Amino acid sequence: MTTEALFGHWRERTERQLDAALPAATVAPLRLHQAMRYATLGGGKRMRPLLAYAAGNLLGADEALLDAPAAAVEMIHAYSLVHDDLPAMDDDELRRGRPTVHVAYDEATAILAADALQAAAFSLLASMPAAAELRVACLQTLADASGAAGMCGGQALDIDATGQQQPLADLERMHALKTGALIRAAVRMGALCGGADEATLQRLDRFAATLGLAFQVRDDILDVEASSDQLGKTAGKDSAQDKSTFPALLGMHEAKAYLAQLTTRMAGELQPFGERASALQALARLAVERSH
Ligand code: IPE
Ligand code: IPE
Ligand code: MG
Ligand code: MG
Ligand code: MG
Repeated sequence: MTTEALFGHWRERTERQLDAALPAATVAPLRLHQAMRYATLGGGKRMRPLLAYAAGNLLGADEALLDAPAAAVEMIHAYSLVHDDLPAMDDDELRRGRPTVHVAYDEATAILAADALQAAAFSLLASMPAAAELRVACLQTLADASGAAGMCGGQALDIDATGQQQPLADLERMHALKTGALIRAAVRMGALCGGADEATLQRLDRFAATLGLAFQVRDDILDVEASSDQLGKTAGKDSAQDKSTFPALLGMHEAKAYLAQLTTRMAGELQPFGERASALQALARLAVERSH
């Protein structure tokens, strides 16, 4: 199977898992359930599920074992986008080519739908068809990555840094948390499902941390260079809101040079795995070369 076909297959699996795990749109409270489905289904690149499947694939994990981690990390990601778009945060009206959840529904529904998505993610992991030890390890991984020491912490740093220029190390830390943490969790859960030993977990984690940083650097670059149509979200928001980003701190030329360095680092981390890492290699390329 080509990598593209494999990604198509994993995206379909993700969609099916999400559809099955989410509450029905015809059951009350209707508005809440519809908003949860609207936020999650039928959109997005599904980068984090692909990373979970690819990391598991590298180690020969059973795909059925990877379904819950893949869907769960996407639910957390979808919730993070709903909150990120709220008027109190980035105040965005366009996401995945459609009106944001608080625009399509209302703010209270958006807040609750995202809260419920977070809970649903952990419920899905808690019932994954795996030994208790693996389930707890996945739960712990996703919880740590989602909370104050992960995505939420990074979002808080993002808000604190708005309107300010922060040193490179602080910017890296902010990106590592707000975007890197969930990407690392996706890879780690996939690797745990594949029975990775400690050295492999650590190597894959270095790869994932670099990919997480690269993914957000690319996001910052695209915010400057791409159109809203192309992105499916509002372009030019970062400079309009005076966000602390890589192009703002380093200039566009240096930001791209930095992205190239990260690309080399990712290739180095995957090299010892050889051909087995071809799906992860393709995802690394996707992260830095993507146009939306
Ligand atoms: C957008 O994430 C927010 C960031 C963390 C940069 P994605 O670019 O993965 O968004 P979707 O899931 O494809 O919509
Ligand atoms: C968002 O970063 C990271 C999240 C945790 C959602 P951005 O605010 O740059 O994401 P976009 O550009 O709105 O997708
Ligand atoms: Mg934001
Ligand atoms: Mg945003
Ligand atoms: Mg952005």
